[in-house]
Amino acid sequence: MIWLLLISAVAWQHGYSDAVQIDMQLLQHWDTNWEGQFNIPAMPHDVLGWELKIHFSEPVSNIQQWDGEWLIKGDNGGQDYTLLNKVDKGYHPAGTPFNVRMMGKFSGSTAPSGTAEFIDLTGDSQTVPPINIPASQQTTDYNYEEVLVKSLLFYEAQRSGKLPANNRIPWRGDSALDDRGSNGEDLTGGYYDAGDHVKFNFPMAYTTTMLAWGYLEWKDAYIKSGQQQELLDAIKWPLDYFIKCHVAPHELYVQVGDGGPDHGYWGRPENMTMARPAYKITESKPGSDVAGETAAAMAAGSIAFKHINKTYSDILLTHAKQLYEFATQFTGKYSDSVNQAAAYYRSGDYQDELGWAGVWLYQATGDRQYLTDAEANRVSGAGWGDSWDDKTTYTNILLYKITKKDIYKTDIEATYTDWMPGGSLPYTPGGMAYRLQWGALRYTVNMGLGAMMAADTGLHSDEYRCWALSQIKYALGENPAHHSYVVGFGTDAPTRPHHRSSSCPNVPAPCGWDAQKNPGPNPHTLYGALVGGPGKNDEYVDDRMDYVKNEVACDYNAAWQSAIAGLIHLALHNQYPSCP
Ligand SMILES: *[C@@H]1O[C@H](CO)[C@@H](O)[C@H](O)[C@H]1NC(C)=O
Ligand SMILES: *[C@@H]1O[C@H](CO)[C@@H](O)[C@H](O)[C@H]1NC(C)=O
Repeated sequence: MIWLLLISAVAWQHGYSDAVQIDMQLLQHWDTNWEGQFNIPAMPHDVLGWELKIHFSEPVSNIQQWDGEWLIKGDNGGQDYTLLNKVDKGYHPAGTPFNVRMMGKFSGSTAPSGTAEFIDLTGDSQTVPPINIPASQQTTDYNYEEVLVKSLLFYEAQRSGKLPANNRIPWRGDSALDDRGSNGEDLTGGYYDAGDHVKFNFPMAYTTTMLAWGYLEWKDAYIKSGQQQELLDAIKWPLDYFIKCHVAPHELYVQVGDGGPDHGYWGRPENMTMARPAYKITESKPGSDVAGETAAAMAAGSIAFKHINKTYSDILLTHAKQLYEFATQFTGKYSDSVNQAAAYYRSGDYQDELGWAGVWLYQATGDRQYLTDAEANRVSGAGWGDSWDDKTTYTNILLYKITKKDIYKTDIEATYTDWMPGGSLPYTPGGMAYRLQWGALRYTVNMGLGAMMAADTGLHSDEYRCWALSQIKYALGENPAHHSYVVGFGTDAPTRPHHRSSSCPNVPAPCGWDAQKNPGPNPHTLYGALVGGPGKNDEYVDDRMDYVKNEVACDYNAAWQSAIAGLIHLALHNQYPSCP
């Protein structure tokens, strides 16, 4: 008994995945029947899944039990059995012992004894890639290289489709390999949108454009951080998918998966079984917003890949031109054409995407007609706050960068007058510009990126950079509770993002609603994900069930990652803002 306890103690020290040896407690036996139980000691952490590898002293048969499914049943002449927990029998809170009871038949002259290895399937075995700038050599107040490395890991965790051999997320595998269009077209690939598994192309395309923009503006930050290839991979993953989605010049799939059935499932993408219908826009069911944003993403991608793979860059540009033509000739909001998108990513307008796409096509081609169109299509006035749905200010910033016309400058300044302290936006007491309760941090970070881009054009550089920095630092820990809003980074970071796959235990353990309700941390650290963020009074609880504050999404991290690259770039050029 003492020896057993010793083993358990060693196993605990080694963390989650080590096995604990347990002897079966024989409860009773009569005739050729036996009944016994394995007493699993309390673990110091919540258990979400387990396996019991049992060896009996003699052959046994007809075992009845209520806790698991047999993975191995009666090997070695009836002596070896392996039990995997049932989906609703995996969860055992920290500090709570439990037992697995069973009864069966034996054929020998004495009742069997049994020993088992209890394997805890809860833990994380992910290793984070080396961070180029060790914390000890940081020149700025935060290790932005680490934030960048981890943000790219977040995108890797969102991958759908067949994963390449160099996949760095050990708890992710191939998934949604049957994603197809209505004519059987291959639509595998792309990113899962958030904590769920729908592929929503509108925010996915925005994500791609924003990641590419940050890279194109501040490429040296990626090179210096050793993340250039990772960034190119992160944009190529959705770009390859968009190529598949663009099945004819005027036909584009814009969503795979239906939010209703998708949200009725809590588990890994690798284990999904619900139907995943695909929805497309056409001439009669147009979507200028999503076609425009996809054109922008592909145009930005074509610039990013121009000197890396000319063939690929040209393919992207051809699609971008066709999609732009489709977007401008057949106008309408995609969420009016595709009802299944309306409940999740309803488009406010498409005018802004036409301007945005035009300015990206101009940058990719140098063809002034695109610039003329962009200037005609852009939305004027102070921006509400840019995001997956609204590119008003981003477009004005690029138009100002290119033309230096005062009309764009005026609108950018009006936007930031609203957004900066003293303007029309409310601030949390802790200093975060607060646009909307849903994913609050994302809006301020999006506008922070815009401010940094505007600063690069020469507009109020110090002031705009300092404001952006204040908002970014808020997310990294300079807030009243002094906690990071980035999973797996910094002090007191969120550990319970509303994110299905990272909430699941290790395979082969099943995953279900117990994993959502688990009060403990997600078994896998979803490195780099920016969570929704606090409420209007800086209040925040790290609670998976509160998806307003704890959802994560591809679009949340996009401008965020680019802004982080911008700060690294400034530091490289001795321009890191020194702010009051
Ligand atoms: C879920 O998928 C994983 C990885 O593909 C697999 O190993 C596991 O057996 C599956 N689990 C269930 C319950 O289907
Ligand atoms: C360049 O891109 C094309 C088109 O995607 C691809 O077929 C080719 O393998 C790529 N070349 C290299 C060297 O990666």
